[in-house]
Amino acid sequence: MGLLRPAMDDVQARHPNPVVVDAGSGNAYLGFVVYELFLKDAQAGELLSIEGRPELTERAKGRAERLHFDRMRFQTAHIDAAQYPERIHVLMALHACDTATDDALVAAIKHGADHVAVVPCCQAEVAAQLKEKRAKPAGSISLLFQHPMHRREFGSHLTNVIRALTLESFGYQVTVTELTGWEHSLKNELILGRRVHRDNRRAKLQLQALLAETGVQPRLTRLLGITPATTGAVESSEGPEVEPVVEPGPESGESQA
Ligand SMILES: C[S@@+](CC[C@H](N)C(=O)[O-])C[C@H]1O[C@@H](n2cnc3c(N)ncnc32)[C@H](O)[C@@H]1O
Repeated sequence: MGLLRPAMDDVQARHPNPVVVDAGSGNAYLGFVVYELFLKDAQAGELLSIEGRPELTERAKGRAERLHFDRMRFQTAHIDAAQYPERIHVLMALHACDTATDDALVAAIKHGADHVAVVPCCQAEVAAQLKEKRAKPAGSISLLFQHPMHRREFGSHLTNVIRALTLESFGYQVTVTELTGWEHSLKNELILGRRVHRDNRRAKLQLQALLAETGVQPRLTRLLGITPATTGAVESSEGPEVEPVVEPGPESGESQA
């Protein structure tokens, strides 16, 4: 939980009523811990759990009522169709299945989240694209995923590299680290993002080049309209590399768009 502390400290210092979203929350265990540690005594801030299975939402809702965790909210919805508050301050998604992590990242980016923390789950989409005929990288890169097991591992790695680069493209400073010891979980990659720029042109060009070289187009980049580069796009970048975030005053309109 210490990995979330800098994000929570930051938003609690800057926003009187920070909104934390837990996407693909399951039983909302992560949300309960975050509420207990950071929101309960602060007597401010809301935690919104989004979960696709109604029985899990109902169970967690009952638990929150018994604990008097009054600022925990629950929504049964798909992450990509949920009703979000206009502004999210922290978005977290722990083991949201396959492309649900992408939907969570899209919500974070679209709602200007200051901080993002995702631990992706199993992922199959990019591995399947690598298998398709159209995703045939030039040179020897394709040797990295000829065998099904390599394709699964490489596809998973490539997916997370694209997620990190996408966050950077939208102005996030990204840290990729381990959530816990590998003996506890193999789904252990924690991607942390802190929004420090409005956008980052160099990262976007690198991302577009990577999409072009590998031939994949994951859900995340499709939803955000990021297309593969045409030849030479990275070298021909012009203008400032990053656009600074316009920092809102203490709880003004807060728009960073
Ligand atoms: C592996 S569980 C993790 C639950 C919780 N985050 C945790 O770590 O304990 C994944 C959860 O995400 C939910 N889920 C998967 N895809 C979803 C989607 N697109 N929208 C909403 N919930 C989703 C599943 O129903 C499941 O409860």
